[in-house]
Amino acid sequence: MIPEQTTVAPTEQRGHGLFTTGSPVTSWTVRTALPVDYRVRFAPRLLAPDNPALATAGLPAGPGRQRRKRLLLVVEARVHELYGERIHAYCEAQRLDWSCCILLAHERVKTMESVFQVVEQLDRFGLARRGEPVIAIGGGVLTDIVGLACSLYRRSTPFVRVPTTLIGLVDAGVGAKTGVNYGRQKNRLGSYHPAVETLLDPSFLATLDTRHLSNGLAEILKIALIKDRRLFETLDLHGERLLAERFRTPGGTAGEGGTGAEVLARAVHGMLQELQPNLWEKELERAMDYGHSFSPTLEMRALPELLHGEAVCVDMALTTVLARRRGLLDAAQCARILSLMRRLGLPIHHRLLEPGLLSDALADTVRHRDGRQRLPLPVGIGSGCFVDDLTAHELALASADLKEIADPTTTTATATAREAA
Ligand SMILES: NC(=O)c1ccc[n+]([C@@H]2O[C@H](COP(=O)([O-])OP(=O)(O)OC[C@H]3O[C@@H](n4cnc5c(N)ncnc54)[C@H](O)[C@@H]3O)[C@@H](O)[C@H]2O)c1
Repeated sequence: MIPEQTTVAPTEQRGHGLFTTGSPVTSWTVRTALPVDYRVRFAPRLLAPDNPALATAGLPAGPGRQRRKRLLLVVEARVHELYGERIHAYCEAQRLDWSCCILLAHERVKTMESVFQVVEQLDRFGLARRGEPVIAIGGGVLTDIVGLACSLYRRSTPFVRVPTTLIGLVDAGVGAKTGVNYGRQKNRLGSYHPAVETLLDPSFLATLDTRHLSNGLAEILKIALIKDRRLFETLDLHGERLLAERFRTPGGTAGEGGTGAEVLARAVHGMLQELQPNLWEKELERAMDYGHSFSPTLEMRALPELLHGEAVCVDMALTTVLARRRGLLDAAQCARILSLMRRLGLPIHHRLLEPGLLSDALADTVRHRDGRQRLPLPVGIGSGCFVDDLTAHELALASADLKEIADPTTTTATATAREAA
């Protein structure tokens, strides 16, 4: 603590004997550092009864690492339908005193009400303050809700994430953020509260439907486009197969060896490389915001039509065309990117992508980025830059271009009708 009145006490007494001599100190600056470390790791066969990974997750590491005795799980409803029996059998096999709270979690119930439901369960369980990290098993919505509940509960309660969707595995499960929607605003209420440990078991992808796999591929594509050309090339070559095979290698389980494992590991690594130096987002020029400039507004206005990754992909398609118009990409690169998006089962346009929505979205993003656009755009494939000079006119032109590319027949029909009139 640094007293701001430097004339108060003799130098040797500063910070110690504040009341010894002279007039009292009336102004202070408190500075402290909070070291943060959390663990993200692949943990295959997580629900195998003899695997201690889940039973010890989030507890202090080292030779004396103890198994926990009590365990509170919060499991997303659909995940519970699919994996509940195995989860319960695991807890029994590990001889845990466990309790399981089942939570319905999707974008429209990603609200404080759901956070309060979790808080109610934490209270009912009588959770110890530090030593009993809560385990959240589910997609990005569930882990965001539980993360926020834990960050609020007693001002900070540890939790463990077990993501079960592709977005969860490569994005929602690995960063520091939690959050819920408020009104029409996406993730408007939230906190920075990383899980003490995240266990990544890609075998959960075996039951995920194709649309949600495509949804997760959008976030992987984001990393590829803005910082990892090799990842893009891999997706371009193998993306459709990974989608069809649910990231499984022939004869293996999802994410074990082969291209699927490489793609997942590169995506998680790329994401963490970007997040780690800027965990609290003091720096607002963030490469990982690529695809997240217009998509929050689009996603919320299109609810429940567009999934998160789909809205992100529409945003990336728009900014790809913007980059092309600025000469940051050539025509072949632009076509290649849009073609890959389609082959991954992702939309590149949406009917709500009109000038009104785009200018609202940009205004909100400028507020979110503290008064400047700080808009990430791709430069070629695999790198990017930030711009601050995007105009509404330029956006409208890019969106019209994209509309035509996405559905040339509609645009041509509209143009023909206009000409006929
Ligand atoms: N905190 C972050 O840093 C961060 C990052 C990216 C995204 N997010 C958030 O993540 C959310 C999107 O996450 P999501 O795509 O996982 O959506 P989600 O949590 O809604 O899950 C998608 C669907 O998959 C089902 N499901 C989950 N696991 C399954 C499985 N193994 N098998 C079959 N079905 C399964 C769920 O029931 C749900 O219907 C958004 O709200 C977004 O804001 C957060």
